[in-house]
Amino acid sequence: MKNNLMALCSTVLGMVVAATGLRAQTTLKDAFQADFRIGVAINQKQFDDEDQRGDPIIKAQFNALSPENILKWESVHPEPGRYDFAGPDRYVEFGEKNHMLIVGHTLVWHNQTPKWVFQNANGNPTTRAVLLERMRDHIHTVVGRYRGRIKIWDVVNEALQDDGKLRKSPWEQIIGDDYIEKAFQYAHEADPDAILRYNDYSLENKPKQNGAIALIKKLQTEGIPVTAIGLQDHVQMDWPTREQEDAAISAFAGLGLKVMITELDVNVLGGRQTAEITEMAHQGGSNGYTNGLPPVVQQELANRYADLFRVFVKHHDDIALVTFWGVTDGDSWLNMRGRVNHPLLFDRAGQPKPAFDAVVRVAQEPSPAR
Ligand code: GLA
Repeated sequence: MKNNLMALCSTVLGMVVAATGLRAQTTLKDAFQADFRIGVAINQKQFDDEDQRGDPIIKAQFNALSPENILKWESVHPEPGRYDFAGPDRYVEFGEKNHMLIVGHTLVWHNQTPKWVFQNANGNPTTRAVLLERMRDHIHTVVGRYRGRIKIWDVVNEALQDDGKLRKSPWEQIIGDDYIEKAFQYAHEADPDAILRYNDYSLENKPKQNGAIALIKKLQTEGIPVTAIGLQDHVQMDWPTREQEDAAISAFAGLGLKVMITELDVNVLGGRQTAEITEMAHQGGSNGYTNGLPPVVQQELANRYADLFRVFVKHHDDIALVTFWGVTDGDSWLNMRGRVNHPLLFDRAGQPKPAFDAVVRVAQEPSPAR
């Protein structure tokens, strides 16, 4: 009787909320507590507790952190033999102080890595042996410093091309294809308990997805400790489809990997579909919403986010973490080159958007998967 009454109250409340558009009074991390952690990428001002708009949102809404830039090679290891741990130390302390799961991003990538890493004293490409030693030293030093504190590492970022073949990055060209194996081995040596991720974008597209599956299977056959896949999910309004997202998560979960959504945002301005930052900087697309999103587009964005989260919830057994790439719209990398983008759940004033409510409501929907 009491249960029936409570169920009735909750239904009526749900109807009132839906009808009046009343704001859901919960937080993202609480709403999805039974499903997965909700993370956010933060910048220096934020982990220094100097962002009066962003910090209260970070602390209230999220229970996992990624560093937007501070642990990339160019920041943490700008010159040969010189590491700068001042910022990364504060990032990790911020996460610990706020009881959050702390992610490290990223160890081996072709962007935001200084040229000297790949060169000898004359500026020519260095040798396989030297580059492997530099990689080993970097990974052992950085991962080793935060052993047991940073629980998840993006070990290799974006090693694949859109056609699924290995990207001809300086890592691949100088060391050879096995640079990936070596990176994971070194990371495992430095922290045997850390979850080690392969992280990439557009893994919902079949050619790239098949390349990633082949790569992961090869690593697994060789006994390489890759334990998670990062689907970056810098998505568009119409790509990937729900079916593509669903199929990608199933495919990687089927390999026995933990699946994590690592860099979620929705590009409402369109343009060529890519998340490669050097290409993004040159791409077109509209800049039509410089004065804010019209209500109809706000609603489309809300629907888009709700659709994505329904797919994530369906796979809650396999998904450990969903991370947004930025706190408010004003923080997003998608504003590059003077664009005014609106890709996240909180607007430039730090207010939750209709997309926030839509996402929270998904957590409250009955789901056959739960
Ligand atoms: C890639 C990287 C991230 C970030 C984004 C956008 O996806 O993994 O660190 O740089 O691009 O800036």
